[in-house]
Amino acid sequence: MSEKKIESKFPAIYNSEMLYQRASGLIPSHTQTLAKGPGQYVRGVAPMYIERGKGSHVWDADGNEFIDFNMGIGPVSLGYCYERVDEAIKEQLSKGITFSMMHPLEVEVAELINSIIPNAESVRYSKTGADVTSAAIRLARAYTGREKVLCCGYHGWHDWYISVTDRNRGIPNVIQDMTFTFNYNDLDSLIESIDPDTACVIMEPVVFEEPVENFLHNLRDICTKNGTLLIFDEMWTGFRILPGGAQEYFGVDADLACFSKAIANGMPVSVLTGKSNIMSLLEREVFFYTTFGGEALSLAAAKATINEMIENNVCEHLNEQGKKIKNAYNEIVRSNDIEFTKCTGYGFRTMVTFDANVGNPLELKSLMQQELIKRGVLWSGFHNMCYSHSDSDVEHIISVYEDVLPKIKLAVENNNVREMLKGDVVEPVFRKTSNFNTKPKISSKVG
Ligand SMILES: Cc1ncc(COP(=O)(O)O)c(C=O)c1O
Repeated sequence: MSEKKIESKFPAIYNSEMLYQRASGLIPSHTQTLAKGPGQYVRGVAPMYIERGKGSHVWDADGNEFIDFNMGIGPVSLGYCYERVDEAIKEQLSKGITFSMMHPLEVEVAELINSIIPNAESVRYSKTGADVTSAAIRLARAYTGREKVLCCGYHGWHDWYISVTDRNRGIPNVIQDMTFTFNYNDLDSLIESIDPDTACVIMEPVVFEEPVENFLHNLRDICTKNGTLLIFDEMWTGFRILPGGAQEYFGVDADLACFSKAIANGMPVSVLTGKSNIMSLLEREVFFYTTFGGEALSLAAAKATINEMIENNVCEHLNEQGKKIKNAYNEIVRSNDIEFTKCTGYGFRTMVTFDANVGNPLELKSLMQQELIKRGVLWSGFHNMCYSHSDSDVEHIISVYEDVLPKIKLAVENNNVREMLKGDVVEPVFRKTSNFNTKPKISSKVG
C-alpha cells in the first residue's frame, strides 16, 4: 500500500450489495456478529463482505483492497494467512480434525498456557468467548454457593449477561435478578452492589480507560474480603497486552480468567484458566463439555500462534505500532486545533471518539469511516493491531488522518457533516458497559 499514492475514490461494491440482497429475509440481521454487520459501516459506501486477506490487508467481494484495522474483531493477531499458523493447520488437517478420543494437542497447549498465564493452574477449552465466561460464572456459583454476579464490560450472548441489557427478550425475568453491573474505575459502584450473595465479579481488566488509584488491586482486595471470586474476561487483553495477559501486566491475580480471540490467529478456540481448587469442580460437580472442545485444527493453530508470539515479542510490536497511530492521531488533532476528537487506549487496541458537544458522534464517525474507506482503510473506530501491521500500514493511516481530519473539522464548522455523508449513518455498537442495572433489586434471596 505504501508505494501507492493515497487515492480517494469510492470503491465499487456491486457484489457486496448483491450478497446483501440475497441474505435479506434469509439471514436475520444479515450477520452472525454485530460488530461485523452492515450497521457498523456506512451503507451504500462501505463494502459488506470480505473474501480474502493476507497479512494486514483484505480484499472485499468486489476485489477492493483495504488495510484492515478491525482484524476480524480481534482474533487475527498475527495476520491473515500467516504462514506458520497456516502450515500448522494444514499439517493437522492432513491427520484429521475431530476425533473419538482426546487429542495430544489438548495436553500440549494446556502446558503452554500453564507456563505463560499467571494462575492458569488448570485449563479447559471451548469454542467461543461466551462459552468460557458462562462456564466461569457457573464455576464461581458452584464454588461459593452464591448466585449473584457483578459485571463490568461485554461478556457474550448468554442469559446471565444479556438478561440485564435492553436486548433481553426470551430470557426469564428471574435471571435478571442475579446480575448487576458496576462502573470501571468506580470502586464505590462496586462496594454499593457487592453483598454476601455475590459469587463473582467478572470484568475486562481494561478496555480503553486506564485503571486509576490502584483500581484493580483494590477491587481484588474487596473481592477477597467478601469471599467473592474475581474473573478476568481477557478476550481482548489476552495475548495482546502481554503473553501472560492482564494478570501479568497489572500484577493482579484473578481466580479465573477467560481467553479467546487472539489466541489462535482466527481459529475458533476459547480457554478457561484458573486456580485448581476452583477448576477442580469441573471434574464432576460442574458440567462443561462440548463436542468440538478439543478440535485439533484450532489447537494446532493456538500452539503455533502462542509460540510465534513468544519467540517474536509480538505483544511488544502490537503495542508499539498502535501507540504510533494513537500519538500521531492526537498530534494531528492538537496541531490543527481540533478539539472534538481523540484517540485513547493501550497500544494493542485504541479507539477514536468524537465529542457529542459538536455534533452527533455517530455522524462524525460515519464521515470519518467514509473518508477512510475511500482511502483504502477498513475502520470502524478502532485500531485493533496485528503483527503484520507494518510501518508502511501505520504511515498510511497516519497520512490519511492528516488528510481527513482537517476536512472533518471544516464539516463541523460548516455544520454539514450529515450532508457530506453519501450513505446511512452507522449504528451504535452494542456495548452497554456502564451505568445500567447497577443497583441490586431487593429479592428474597438477598437480605
Ligand atoms: C470482552 C468480551 N467478552 C466476551 C465476548 C464474547 O465472545 P464470543 O463472541 O466469542 O462469544 C466478547 C466478544 O466480542 C468480548 O469482547
